[in-house]
Amino acid sequence: MTANNCWRTAPADALNGEITVPGDKSISHRAIMLGALAEGVSEVSGFLEGEDCLATMHAFQAMGVPIHHHGEGKVTIEGQGLQGLEAPDQALDVGNSGTSMRLMAGVLAGQAFDSVLVGDHSLMRRPMARVTEPLNKMGARIHTSETGTAPIAIQAAQLRGIDYALPVASAQLKSCLLFAGLYAQGRTMLHDCGVSRDHSERMLQGFGVDLIIDGTTIGIEGGQRLRGREVVVPGDVSSAAFFIVAALIAPQADVLIHNVGMNPTRAAVIDILQAMGGDITILNARESGGEPVADLRVKSSQLRGITIDPRLVPIAIDEFPVIFVAAACAQGVTRATDLAELRVKESDRLAVMAAGLQACGVRCDEGESSLTIEGGGLLGGATIDSDGDHRIAMSFAVAGVVAREPITINNCATVASSFPNFRELAVSLGMHIEVNDA
Ligand code: S3P
Repeated sequence: MTANNCWRTAPADALNGEITVPGDKSISHRAIMLGALAEGVSEVSGFLEGEDCLATMHAFQAMGVPIHHHGEGKVTIEGQGLQGLEAPDQALDVGNSGTSMRLMAGVLAGQAFDSVLVGDHSLMRRPMARVTEPLNKMGARIHTSETGTAPIAIQAAQLRGIDYALPVASAQLKSCLLFAGLYAQGRTMLHDCGVSRDHSERMLQGFGVDLIIDGTTIGIEGGQRLRGREVVVPGDVSSAAFFIVAALIAPQADVLIHNVGMNPTRAAVIDILQAMGGDITILNARESGGEPVADLRVKSSQLRGITIDPRLVPIAIDEFPVIFVAAACAQGVTRATDLAELRVKESDRLAVMAAGLQACGVRCDEGESSLTIEGGGLLGGATIDSDGDHRIAMSFAVAGVVAREPITINNCATVASSFPNFRELAVSLGMHIEVNDA
């Protein structure tokens, strides 16, 4: 068993203190990718040193890009230009990271060399046809397994721009096609993009690329050159969300979280928790490196159940596991719909969260793409398996703040994919999470 793989919680009376969460995962991936494709040097600070982003870094190093990792979130990338990548001498293994696989498929589709993308057990069962089908329409030569999963085998090809309506509001799909669009002849126009995180658009523009943005249509002209730059990565709101909920549900809490990314296409979790009655004060709102950031002060609150606006789902997509924990602690019923995408994340988050909450004694009703949670009862202890999903493990660690008996959480090692120092920060605030590796 991997060390630090099993956690056991105990209730916490009071959470207090100030923390800074690690850098944003989505922005860290994109900084490596675009820095590698740029001409000149890019200096990154606030880079998330989690396994997912390190997998992206190692993949680009394997394609000949000199990337110097200085530690403490500092990375220097010697960009090689759009045509400067070299053929990797083996399959690129991106571990647990769906963002690496889907965004890199877009970059690799237009290269003059062949490549193969693989990942861990969880990633190898996630749907990849959503990116390979439109890439093939662009002239890519890509193959997945018969069921549309990795390995993704990519042959050298010259891409051409297409007009494409996105069937799902996915930032990974949108970003994949925008990156492929850099390599395409002509213009790539993406329609019906919906609202999903816009870090790729912001960062492409920051690297000097012109985009056509018109409502829900985004276009990119192929062949544009990127110029190396400084990238300042804000704290990850998805990581902050665990401590926001922990503070809201704790009997007493006053917690300050510094430097949290507040991009409106990402931070709907704050709106949802405020609508539930959460006492979250946004302080010192400012802009840093082209992204809005703020400090958040969170106090213990009596939450109430709400019906979550389905339009907020794509912009709070990664926070639903911990929002469900908040709902379990709220007075009344919380209803969330349009959650089908949760089924194809690192685990089937709808099923795994419903089963875990039920094991803790919470009444919930799982629909095909919905979850209704009856909050307000006392949470009991349980043994939960995260199914190898970092956000499930951290969500039940948060539930442990109020559960009367310990929650034992198995399969926690993947927390290192997005939040290596989660337990350390949790303990510093007063949460009780023991490592229980027998
Ligand atoms: C991400 C987009 C989201 C999110 C993932 C990171 C990104 O996925 O769940 O953790 O960085 O673009 P989808 O775009 O597939 O919803």
